[in-house]
Amino acid sequence: MTTLTLHLSRSISRDWQEGDEIVLTRLDHDANVTPWVLAAQDKGVKISWVNFDVEDGTLNLDDLQKALERKPKLVAVGYASNSLGTVNPVEKITKMAHDAGALVYVDAVQYAVHGSIDVQKIGCDFLVSSSYKY
Ligand SMILES: Cc1ncc(COP(=O)(O)O)c(C=O)c1O
Repeated sequence: MTTLTLHLSRSISRDWQEGDEIVLTRLDHDANVTPWVLAAQDKGVKISWVNFDVEDGTLNLDDLQKALERKPKLVAVGYASNSLGTVNPVEKITKMAHDAGALVYVDAVQYAVHGSIDVQKIGCDFLVSSSYKY
C-alpha cells in the first residue's frame, strides 16, 4: 500500500498548483500521510488536518467540512484505523468531498480483512489495500 500510494501520489499531484490544498487526517497510518506530505511539499500545496475525538476515536467531520470549504484537491482517509479500530464513514466522507470537488483516496488495509468492500457504493476515486494482510 505504501508503494502504491507513493506512486499514485506522484501521478495525482501532477495537476496540483502552488496554493492548492489537500486534506489528511490525524487518524491515518503514516502510509496514507507521508506520501501526500512529500507531494504537497514539492508542489507548494497546503495541508488541512482532520483531528479525531480522543474519547471515542471518531474523526471530526466538522474539521473536514471546514477544510472542504476551501475546495481542496484531495481527501486521503482510512477506512479503518490500525491504531484504534475506528471504522470511518467513508461513504459519507466521499459524498462530502465530492460535493466540494475533491478526489477521495481510501486506505482500506485494515478494513479489508474484516468486511466486504463495495467501491461503487462508497463512490471513492481510489481505494488501496495490501493482500499480504489477509
Ligand atoms: C491502515 C494501514 N495502512 C497502510 C499500511 C501500510 O501497508 P503496506 O505494509 O502494504 O505498505 C498499514 C500497515 O500495517 C496499515 O495498517
